[in-house]
Amino acid sequence: MLKPYKLASDNFLSNLDMSTEEIIHILDLAENFKNNDLKIKLQEKVLGLVFDKSSTRTRVSFQVAMSRLGGTTIDLNPTTSQIGRGEPIKDTARVLSRYCDVLAIRTFNQSDLEEYAKWSSKPVINALTDLEHPCQALADFMTIKEEFSDFKNIVLTFIGDGNNVANSLILCGALLGVEVRIACPRGYEPSSQVINKANEIYQNKSLLSISNDPHTAILGSNVIYTDVWSSMGEETRKEQKDKQFDGFTINSDLLREAEDEAIVLHCLPAYRSKEITDEVIESKNSRIFIQAENRMHVQQALLSCLLY
Ligand code: CP
Ligand code: NVA
Repeated sequence: MLKPYKLASDNFLSNLDMSTEEIIHILDLAENFKNNDLKIKLQEKVLGLVFDKSSTRTRVSFQVAMSRLGGTTIDLNPTTSQIGRGEPIKDTARVLSRYCDVLAIRTFNQSDLEEYAKWSSKPVINALTDLEHPCQALADFMTIKEEFSDFKNIVLTFIGDGNNVANSLILCGALLGVEVRIACPRGYEPSSQVINKANEIYQNKSLLSISNDPHTAILGSNVIYTDVWSSMGEETRKEQKDKQFDGFTINSDLLREAEDEAIVLHCLPAYRSKEITDEVIESKNSRIFIQAENRMHVQQALLSCLLY
C-alpha cells in the first residue's frame, strides 16, 4: 500500500521545494485519499492557519483535510490576533510553532513567508503569497492527471495575469515536464525569476512560452486556465486592469480554438464576464469544481508527508 514519506524540504514555500518525484508522490497519495484507499491518522496534530488575506477554498480545504486526518486547526487573522497590532513575525512564528505542529500562511510578500519559516520550529506551508500559490498548482496538476491519465504531450495555456497562480503553474509544470504557455497583456508577464528557473528545469527545451496573444497560444492546447485579473491587494487597480485585459476573456469562441476535448480550469474565485464567461464555467469542458475539490485531497497528502 502507498504510504506517505518524509519530503526532503521541511517547508513548502514554493513548488521548487519539491522534486518531480515528490510531486508525483503527493499526487498519487491525493488520488488514494480521494478514493478512500488510504487512512492516515494524525491524532492530536494541530495545523495553525495564519491568513492575512481572505480565503474560502484554501482555509476550508485545509480545515477539512486536517479533520479527515484526525487532527485539528486553529484559524488566525490580523484582527483576531496580535499580528494586526504589529507583533513581529519572528515572535509570532516562534510562539505558534510551540503550540502547532505545522503552519499554513497566506500573506503578501514571499519574504514574510520565508521569515515565518526561518523562525518556526515546525513546517511552514505557503497558502498563497503575491509570488506563488503552490498548493493550488498541486491540485491543478492532480486534476489534469485525472483527466488525461498522465502529463505526456499535454499543453497547458494560462490566459490572463502573470501572477502568483501563473508563477506556480510554470514551476510545477516545468518540474513535471508539461508544456506551459502564458498569454497576458504586455507588462503583465510572470516573474522573470520564475521564468528563468523554469527554463533551467526544462533544460531550455522551449516548453515555456510567454506571449501577448491568446489566439495563438490556445492553438493545440489541452488545458485552458485563467485567474482573476486583479488579485487580492490590487483592488485599487481594478478599473485600469479591466481595460488592459480587454480581449483576454475566456469565452466560448476562444475555447473553440483549443483542442476539441480541452478542459478549462480556474482557481476561483471567478469574476464572470471578466476573465471567463459564465457559459464557459458551466460548460462541459469545465473541471473547475473538481479542481476546487482536489485542493482538499492534495493538502491531505501534503500534510501527511510534512507531519510524517
Ligand atoms: N483558490 C483559492 O485559493 O481560493 P481561496 O482564495 O478561496 O482560498
Ligand atoms: N491571484 C489570486 C488568486 C486567488 C486564489 C489572488 O492572489 O488574489
